[in-house]
Amino acid sequence: MTSVPAIQVEGLRKSFGKVVALDGLDLVGAEGRVLALLGPNGAGKTTLVRALATLLRPDAGRAVVLGHDVVADPLGVRREIGLAGQFAAVDEVMTGRENLIMVGRLYHLGRVESQRRAGEVLERFGLSDAADRRAGTYSGGMRRRLDLAATLVGRPRLIFLDEPTTGLDPRSRAQLWEMVEQLRDEGTSILLTTQYMDEADQLAQQIAVIDGGRIVAEGTASTLKERVGRSRLLVRLAERDRTEEARAALGALDGDGPPEILAPGELSLAMSADDLPARAVRALDRINAGIVGIEVRTPTLEEVFFALTGRRTDGERRTEEAA
Ligand SMILES: Nc1ncnc2c1ncn2[C@@H]1O[C@H](COP(=O)(O)OP(=O)(O)OP(=O)(O)O)[C@@H](O)[C@H]1O
Ligand SMILES: [Mg+2]
Repeated sequence: MTSVPAIQVEGLRKSFGKVVALDGLDLVGAEGRVLALLGPNGAGKTTLVRALATLLRPDAGRAVVLGHDVVADPLGVRREIGLAGQFAAVDEVMTGRENLIMVGRLYHLGRVESQRRAGEVLERFGLSDAADRRAGTYSGGMRRRLDLAATLVGRPRLIFLDEPTTGLDPRSRAQLWEMVEQLRDEGTSILLTTQYMDEADQLAQQIAVIDGGRIVAEGTASTLKERVGRSRLLVRLAERDRTEEARAALGALDGDGPPEILAPGELSLAMSADDLPARAVRALDRINAGIVGIEVRTPTLEEVFFALTGRRTDGERRTEEAA
């Protein structure tokens, strides 16, 4: 194992005419991990992926992939990476197997080896039965799987997945997540772009929030959530008319600020310490207030995203498969 980061980006810039797609972006991603690039439409995700995959040349700044500079050594980069595009790059006229064999040939694997690898990844992605059907007859989920399979034919150390689950139904999405998790567990480095909080939360050890061509926040799911606000303890009482009493009892604990009444019989208190739930239960027990529900709620990544970018991410889900 090397100690070279999977990706290292410094001050990267790219404009298309007057549109600044990358505005001096800095980012470092460790090897053998999943880095999620989380951002809304137009944030610059695909542009960054294309620059890292040597498909477009940055205007300024530096990008190094597994030790290879994307401008000085594009071939070195290409040998190490696999790329699954936002719009599945599957040739519809060819069968799934033929698609993969072609990719193998592009990697100079030789005919026999290409066939062997194609069979292997088809099996792995549950596509063996459909392998000899034209890819044009595949469902959206199958195409994404084929696209992901294609990135693995050349056994890359780093794969780029540009919005791998956009437009997929929940089941296909879960299948794809499982495959990404397997790859991650095998030590493949993955840069994944997504507009979905839950996807970043589920898959990534490192999350970089991108907006307007820059990274606006970075961390793990939990450190990002912490930036937006502490977790809160929510308590639900059996009897609504004990709400005021309960507030007084909870207020006597050294919580972080006063308890808040959310609704009759429902209170919340900022989590000031790990033992707050236990102390809250004891305090409510002392006044004989029956508790029917208690939970610690951390802010969702959706809330984090909104706090950082001022934008919601839902309602923008596209279904390009339908197009
Ligand atoms: N080839 C191009 N020509 C002109 N403008 C472009 C081109 N590629 C990207 N852009 C612009 O650059 C900005 C960033 O685009 P990019 O595709 O990187 O966003 P994205 O984060 O991938 O968005 P999405 O979630 O919609 O895929 C956008 O304003 C886009 O319109
Ligand atoms: Mg994109």
